[in-house]
Amino acid sequence: MEQLVIHGGRPLRGTVEASGAKNAALPLLAASILVDGVVTYHRIPHLRDIATMMSLLVYQGAKVEFDDKNRLHIDGREADQPEAPYDLVKTMRASALVLGPLLARFGKARVSLPGGCAIGARPIDMHLKGLEAMGAAITVEHGYVSASAPYGLIGARIFFDQVTVTGTENLMMAAVLAEGGTVLENASREPEVVNLAESLRALGAKIQGEGTGTITIQGVSSLRGGSVTTIPDRIETATYLAAGLITGGDVMVTGCEPADLESFLTHLVSAGATVEVNGDTIRCFAKRPLRGTDIQTMPHPGFPTDLQAQFMALMTLAEGSCTVRETIFENRFMHVQELVRLGAEIQLAGNTAVVRGVDHLSGAPVMATDLRASAGLVLAGLAAEGETTVSRIYHIDRGYERIEEKLGKLGAVIERRSNGHSMLGGEGLG
Ligand code: EPZ
Repeated sequence: MEQLVIHGGRPLRGTVEASGAKNAALPLLAASILVDGVVTYHRIPHLRDIATMMSLLVYQGAKVEFDDKNRLHIDGREADQPEAPYDLVKTMRASALVLGPLLARFGKARVSLPGGCAIGARPIDMHLKGLEAMGAAITVEHGYVSASAPYGLIGARIFFDQVTVTGTENLMMAAVLAEGGTVLENASREPEVVNLAESLRALGAKIQGEGTGTITIQGVSSLRGGSVTTIPDRIETATYLAAGLITGGDVMVTGCEPADLESFLTHLVSAGATVEVNGDTIRCFAKRPLRGTDIQTMPHPGFPTDLQAQFMALMTLAEGSCTVRETIFENRFMHVQELVRLGAEIQLAGNTAVVRGVDHLSGAPVMATDLRASAGLVLAGLAAEGETTVSRIYHIDRGYERIEEKLGKLGAVIERRSNGHSMLGGEGLG
């Protein structure tokens, strides 16, 4: 088990560059299944989840390789295995993103049901309902979804009862090669969905309306090879800006997309931070402790649920109290008890946390439970006096490229330790 060991209390200062967005890259890679040619990807981040998706595509028979200029080339033409096995899907729920493309390409697919995860049940019922509306026959048994559409998918009008990011992406990809037109209503407006639509259009798809709640897709007979570029990771960007603020420092992120972080940046300004936006760079600092500021997570363009833990960490040291309301996932407060171990004062009531700012945090061993919760714990550890060890950091490696290197460049004293022996208590309980 690896740990991050952090000696906190140092202001972080300097500049880091944003990596490509994990949640844009994953559907983009899955889309290679649809393409009758080679797709060249620019700005793909080196993350565990990306490696998992690449393994899945190789398992299906695609050719996948990075070149010496860090471009990723995928040739899906040889793929002949329309399956996503349990041992790959269990490590990454987003593997379900191959379901739509496999069904569109092969007329059949067998994909392991993604298990739940720490933050919630995370079903894919809306994905399946949409595929059925497009004429697929779906059965779920022995933990697998089996889908078939031997005569191809037919365009349909699909209304999402709840905004779903990967549900929108899966059905957009399924619709690209379907017969006729598809309309996705109450679709996700996330920047990652827009990136996918623009990329598919560059490969020959007919898509309109991305970024609004209504996306229309006109089926085409095939997609041609070409080049696509992943947007910068807005969640990673915001995490590093928060690292500067929580330590009383001054951090600039370059190569990012400020427009994708409107809600987060607006809340930082309400809390008293100075936010300077200049083209593709954002700089944040604060002359005095932040003010407690309420947030409520919402689908884009609202406050991102993937930044809830990081903002909560910031608020543990703010002046006054605030409420953090999580409306997207039913169990996304696993970081709260760990933050309390560092001295934070947080009360939970249903899907709302009340955070009362304290004047300091003190280092302690804490445990990561999911990707973004672990980012929140690292932020708190950077501010806490003394040593904080964050264990189970395989969670964090799923979504943050070389985190200790990037934080170290900003002046953090942080190192990765492998912890061969299992300690009694936390670690030992496995
Ligand atoms: C995507 O997950 C992201 N993952 C998540 O990021 C992100 O937190 C989430 O969107 C919300 O923004 C990727 O893009 C790979 P949803 P997704 O479908 O698509 C319910 C991270 O840290 N729902 O938008 O799985 C669902 O349970 C990850 O990078 C159904 O009930 O989320 C949730 O309550 C974590 N049935 C809500 O909708 C369905 O068929 C939103 O989920 C689909 C979803």
